[in-house]
Amino acid sequence: MKIILKDPLDMHLHLRDGEMLKITAPLSAKYFSGALIMPNLIPPVTSIEQVESYKKRILQAIGENVFKPYMTLFFKDSYSYEFLKEAKKHITAIKLYPAGITTNSEGGVSKIDSFSLKEVLEAMSELEIPLCVHGESEGFVMDRESEFLSVYEELAREFPKLKIIMEHITTKDAVNLLEKYENLYATITLHHLYITLDDVAGGLLRPHLFCKPIAKRPEDRMALRKAAFSAHPKVMFGSDSAPHPVSKKESLGCAAGVFTAPIALQALCDLFEKADVLDNLQKFVSDNAKNIYSLTPPKKEVVLVKEEYEVEERFGDVVPMFSKEKIGWRVESVL
Ligand code: NCD
Ligand code: ZN
Repeated sequence: MKIILKDPLDMHLHLRDGEMLKITAPLSAKYFSGALIMPNLIPPVTSIEQVESYKKRILQAIGENVFKPYMTLFFKDSYSYEFLKEAKKHITAIKLYPAGITTNSEGGVSKIDSFSLKEVLEAMSELEIPLCVHGESEGFVMDRESEFLSVYEELAREFPKLKIIMEHITTKDAVNLLEKYENLYATITLHHLYITLDDVAGGLLRPHLFCKPIAKRPEDRMALRKAAFSAHPKVMFGSDSAPHPVSKKESLGCAAGVFTAPIALQALCDLFEKADVLDNLQKFVSDNAKNIYSLTPPKKEVVLVKEEYEVEERFGDVVPMFSKEKIGWRVESVL
């Protein structure tokens, strides 16, 4: 059995910088046509110069591969209309992090509501710059996403023309919210389609599956699967592939993030095939994102075949999801 995926897109990707970028960028660029590049570097990407120089480093790191990095800015409530008007030419979206909620988000926003962020969000709305949000409150870890949903509702209501993307949703409640507001969209990761909290901490602790938002309950995973498997038009694949060196994962104080980019398409094929919905994968990994963001990525055809693939133990010093395990699909060729 074979499938050809056209122009796969990863709409939430952490490539990092420096030596790590040299490992991650070619891996994503091999199988994906493009990706939305997260701005949570140290320091975060907050100026047009930083966007352009990071983009240049990414393009250098991908080598011969054809791949479009869709750049983002790290949200600041101090951005002016004039700045955003100029920035629009260089970016695809702006990523909003609550301060301190996840890796490298210390410079995020401490008060997220429609009043405090009115000026920036009105400008983004007018300039048609999508807002990507890491939607978690400061509450109990399992409730953080659900508690944040009222913020999404307020923003969606107050800025009806602003495209708001609920990043890496993990709950049934977030899936349901998609139906309530026309301007709300979502990305779903590979790992949240696969795992629940039980896989992370139900037996021996598995640090390589530890991420933010934390994986939730079986009924949440079921709702995510339902949305992805049916290729819900407001839902896109965003891996949230977030590499950390093994020393930061297998350590006291494990960094949050699952590294999935090099195995994502293979694992998605496996999952969609087992659910008998392989025909919907094209929409989930590309078509929906093209429609939502109005993208025309470079052409790429990834041929996957139903043959066993043993996942590499490590890529550089990063351990991927399914390290040394077998996946039922492998990439045969890229055209
Ligand atoms: C991400 C990272 O490491 O940058 N970590 C994660 O657990 N997902 C940040 C993020 O997207 O929350
Ligand atoms: Zn992320």
